[in-house]
Amino acid sequence: MFNGEKLTALLSGCAMGSSLIYKETVDSTNLEIKRAALKGAGHGTVVLAEKQTAGRGRRGRSWNSPPGENLYFSLMLCPEFPVKKAAMLTIVMALSVAEAVRKEGLEAMIKWPNDVVADRKKVCGILTELYLKEDDSFYVIVGTGINVNQKRFPAEIKKTATSLAEQKGSIVPREELLSRVLIQFESNYERFIQDGNLSGLRSEYEALLVNYDAQVEVLDPKGAWKGTSKGITDTGELIVRHEDGSIEQVFAGEVSVRGIYGYV
Ligand code: BTN
Repeated sequence: MFNGEKLTALLSGCAMGSSLIYKETVDSTNLEIKRAALKGAGHGTVVLAEKQTAGRGRRGRSWNSPPGENLYFSLMLCPEFPVKKAAMLTIVMALSVAEAVRKEGLEAMIKWPNDVVADRKKVCGILTELYLKEDDSFYVIVGTGINVNQKRFPAEIKKTATSLAEQKGSIVPREELLSRVLIQFESNYERFIQDGNLSGLRSEYEALLVNYDAQVEVLDPKGAWKGTSKGITDTGELIVRHEDGSIEQVFAGEVSVRGIYGYV
């Protein structure tokens, strides 16, 4: 169980999580926060759950969400910037999680665009969803799952998933980690708003990119191709150099990227 008092104390002064909704069991924190939004929840609200019965991943996949061990939370943002910039928030969160995990003494890295990995295995996934309101404003839900203290993984993800505790060899306190992530996100978000794009966060992000300057396979539905990853643009596309030297910007929505020898 989460220690609510500890979490509230750790988050004091942080706008992200200033309204914290804790649920023992939910279908998905992304769905729960959407219901909260309909009842008036606003910018900075966080829904945190001990367990999800229908945790959702990207591309229609599910997110393994056993109780008591991990972090499953969704953050609501009501930005004033143009809607097309919302996709970049996923990158802001990935960077924030990787930085927070590194403060726990682990060598977390980022697999573009938004998986956080440790020892080249996935420890965190992010699902960002956008909702338009009737008045044409919008809100964004950034849903984050971090494998914190999980010991066993289902067969289908065993080879590509790990947890922070598995890597560290000791339990990682979830309240501290969550507060670190939200505090880090608040600071990165401010920077992002100030710049209007990822330009100010780009060098930090690229320094943690696990496949920076490495061979990657771009899994384009129109045909897979191989190239060398060269970092990201100010708007979050992956820059990949083809074998003939030409440069292409890869959009996260359309394709996924993996290492030529497997997941990373
Ligand atoms: C991925 O496929 O990598 C994204 C996984 C996102 C999982 C998190 S857990 C909290 C939030 N609620 C959900 O249903 N999904 C996200």
